Amino acid sequence: MAKKFYIATDHAGYALKAFVKDVVTTLGHEIVDLGPDSADRVDYPDYARKCAEAVLADEGSFGILICGTGIGISIAANKIQGIRAALCHDHYTAKLTRLHNDANILCFGERVVGKGVIIDMIEAFAETEFEGGRHAGRVAKIEAGCSFGSNLG
Ligand code: RB5
Repeated sequence: MAKKFYIATDHAGYALKAFVKDVVTTLGHEIVDLGPDSADRVDYPDYARKCAEAVLADEGSFGILICGTGIGISIAANKIQGIRAALCHDHYTAKLTRLHNDANILCFGERVVGKGVIIDMIEAFAETEFEGGRHAGRVAKIEAGCSFGSNLG
């Protein structure tokens, strides 16, 4: 099924943005570019917020965030309630974060992963549905601020 993605980067992820947009549309999905529009220096929390707010406002949509390492932009996005931004490195992590964490934003680092891996990650992230079941309670705990209690399985 076709998915809708919002994408944003900082200056250290900007050079990859055109390639990633092309990958997403070639795979049959929609992509909305939230900037930046140049490689000028910007602060990644500002773009993490833009993307997070767009994803939260558009039910069923996903986000892609890129910075140099993927670390700063994922930390920033995860400060926003309702966002589960996953810093991924390969097909396995991109698939498992959809299956188990119901991640709604895929993050990676321009200085870390190559183009072949990026294609694999986007494909896996877009095509994998949340498994629910025992993982649903854990995701609910994340959304509740990581409250304690047993949820084994
Ligand atoms: C920018 O130089 C760099 O710090 C940023 O893109 C990111 O890697 C931070 O986590």
